[in-house]
Amino acid sequence: MPLVPMRQILDEAAKGGYGVGAFNVNNMEQIQAIMEAARETQSPVIIQASRGALKYSKMIYLRNLIQAACEECPEIPLAMHLDHGNSPETCKQAIELGFTSVMMDGSLGTDGKTPNSYEQNVAVTREVVELAHAYGVTVEGELGCLGGIEDGHGAGIAADDTDHLTDPAQAEDFVAQTGLDALAVAIGTSHGAYKSMRKDPKTGQMLPPALAMDRIHEIHKRMPNCHMVMHGSSSVPKHLVDIINQYGGKMPGTYGIPIEQIQDGIKHGVRKINVDTDSRLAMTGAVRKVLFETPEKFDPRDWLKPARDAAYQVYKDRMIAFGQAGHAKDYKPITLDDMKKVYGKK
Ligand code: G3H
Ligand code: 13P
Ligand code: ZN
Repeated sequence: MPLVPMRQILDEAAKGGYGVGAFNVNNMEQIQAIMEAARETQSPVIIQASRGALKYSKMIYLRNLIQAACEECPEIPLAMHLDHGNSPETCKQAIELGFTSVMMDGSLGTDGKTPNSYEQNVAVTREVVELAHAYGVTVEGELGCLGGIEDGHGAGIAADDTDHLTDPAQAEDFVAQTGLDALAVAIGTSHGAYKSMRKDPKTGQMLPPALAMDRIHEIHKRMPNCHMVMHGSSSVPKHLVDIINQYGGKMPGTYGIPIEQIQDGIKHGVRKINVDTDSRLAMTGAVRKVLFETPEKFDPRDWLKPARDAAYQVYKDRMIAFGQAGHAKDYKPITLDDMKKVYGKK
């Protein structure tokens, strides 16, 4: 089965009322772990590469690894997505290499830091929609800015800043003006393992990040057919951070997005859920444990295999929690050429 346009995976998720995990990858082990979990749970899935990933591994290596996953698991609907594309040129490069979906993150300028004006965001997103749809490729855009900075990406917005959250009325205009397929919303999440700065004043305990779920509810009310995307959706499970800290790591004060909040989003139109950090945590903990317990080991396979197994468990848990499990065989996947015809009719 060829790679599937992401739009079909999201349309089917909307019909079935579930969400689909979009997992960031940088290497073969993560891709294999995702596919093993998808196979076991019979889940459609989205594999995505950030610009950081492309810098680390090069686009062509990741493209070929994901292509291999697709050939090895022909029964799994799989979309290959560019995460946080920063320019039409990067998106074009991905499209030409065979990515079936691209994100044009026009919320920030090409430096990945400075917020764009609304007009700039509309113009650059529309440009990519015109380009991508001519190939049958799906486009995700973003309105509003995520909190924090992760690996140089992000506007560095404070967790309690509400000025950069997605405005539902503007979202309606943005979707109409750009013709995008999926809308990434800013509701107070941020990338990475430290998503909350809030502390209970009495106990000093960390509190969950205050997410503006009402914005998702409102956008869904205004546009029931709009597929929303939640970035920064790792849950940062305590047991994974504990393993890291137990074996020499130092990660105090981490906090993620509770699964129940993501599930509430899914009930209100969230179809794509971006998860990267949780897999990083699982793999790092597993590697630390092996090297700590068996310091004589030096074959990378001795720590890459446990790392892959730990990532697999995260992906599997998320596939079940998001509801995509069991839906791999619900529909007959279409091709980019089929999708091109659909866009041609609009
Ligand atoms: O875009 C967010 C992801 O967590 C990617 O991070 O740029 O370090 O690969 P990265
Ligand atoms: P996390 O850092 O929460 O995993 O978010 C990943 C993400 O949004 C990738 O685009
Ligand atoms: Zn993101």
